[in-house]
Amino acid sequence: MTRTHTESADPLSAMGATRLRTHTADVLTRARDRSAALTDAVDDDDLVAQHSPLMSPLVWDLAHIGSQEEIWLVRDVGGREPLRPDIDDLYDAFQHPRSDRPQLPLLGPGEARSYVGQVREKALHVLDRAPLEGRALTDTAFAFGMIAQHEQQHDETMLATHQLRRGEPALHAPPPPPRRAGTLPAEVVVPGGTFLMGTSVEPWALDNERPAHEVSVDTFALDTTPVTNAEFAAFVDAGGYEDPRWWSGPGWHYRTEHDITAPRFWYRADGTWWRRRFGVHEPVPDDEPVMHVSHHEASAYAAWAGKRLPTEAEWEKAARFDPSTGRSARYPWGDDEPRAEHANLGQRHLRPAPVGAYPEGASPLGVHQLIGDVWEWTSSDFRPYPGFTAFPYREYSEVFFGPEYKVLRGGSFGTDAVAIRGTFRNWDFPIRRQIFAGFRCARDVDGPGSGTGHAGGAGV
Ligand code: AVJ
Ligand code: FE
Repeated sequence: MTRTHTESADPLSAMGATRLRTHTADVLTRARDRSAALTDAVDDDDLVAQHSPLMSPLVWDLAHIGSQEEIWLVRDVGGREPLRPDIDDLYDAFQHPRSDRPQLPLLGPGEARSYVGQVREKALHVLDRAPLEGRALTDTAFAFGMIAQHEQQHDETMLATHQLRRGEPALHAPPPPPRRAGTLPAEVVVPGGTFLMGTSVEPWALDNERPAHEVSVDTFALDTTPVTNAEFAAFVDAGGYEDPRWWSGPGWHYRTEHDITAPRFWYRADGTWWRRRFGVHEPVPDDEPVMHVSHHEASAYAAWAGKRLPTEAEWEKAARFDPSTGRSARYPWGDDEPRAEHANLGQRHLRPAPVGAYPEGASPLGVHQLIGDVWEWTSSDFRPYPGFTAFPYREYSEVFFGPEYKVLRGGSFGTDAVAIRGTFRNWDFPIRRQIFAGFRCARDVDGPGSGTGHAGGAGV
């Protein structure tokens, strides 16, 4: 590793064991408060209902959260007796596809709540006593951080189930902050050359983010902000969904097969675009990042705009590389944990914020809203980094590597801070639209380190 390609220090490694235990318990509690809010917001019929074949009943997610916590924290780390060995199979995501889960003999809402409560009580007991060093699974409380992230990931999945659910609004939150940035350039030029991608030091980074490795990218231009609803509506209104020129073969097939004509949850009324958002019907706001578009729709928009999606490496370089030091930071704004002024995270708001709402979260090069608001599709398949080792279980990442999945980066308004960072990798099928995903565009430009860049002014 060259001197300039070093990683940043994280706060967890600097904490003493006592503070680390308290902090970790707080992070677990924050996850549980959210799981409770998402499941207490609807009645028992709603909890056991299947709101979409794409999703589990909410009550499945809840007990699955407890089951994973029992397996990893109570049994493995704690070495305690199993609470409910009989339900392992019911809540094993690989045993039953989501569409079949309502038919299983699942724990009812009351049983699921009491189960996750009992597991949590034991897990906190384990956290109080487990040595937090000497074993990879417990170093810097990794297993506890992994389980907190797992719960928060399911909380975002449950939020997507709420978005699919029909009926009166059940969730409420204040609106996001308004735009605060002045006029922003449309694009930022990211200089070509190497940077350190991934991490070997972030204590709670998951296996697919590891290890840190040098990657070289050519000079490229990246949109300063995610593509907005107004920009995307221009593509729709220009007949973008009707013109196969903009679509890949599989994208056009998908669009035609499902007769997709606009982002999911959009509809046309009174000559304008409306959307349904957590049960609220409202005009589509012009200046928010577009969401509920598939990878195919994102790619088609980019082609229509004369651009392309960024690769995963380009996205991460834009998000982490500080040209003044040559270092890769933990987040676009530096190494500090996300705060409310940095990014729209944690379900504080139930929608993306307008572009320009988070100037304090911008990267050193001036790229905005890379973290929070909407997940961003990249052009990259989900693949292991060189030197990848599955840890602690193959079913988190390894079984998903391959060309069927595309990588998403940056997290959404529905993602908790513990479950996102500059290195975090999410993935999904390129047809998926129920997730809180949007995108920004990139394009080749001439510049240092650029291979075959073609014409195009920098930063126009
Ligand atoms: C990383 C979001 C793709 O929800 O499928 C949850 C996370 N893994 N339980 C998913 C996960 C196991 C995963 N994603
Ligand atoms: Fe899971």
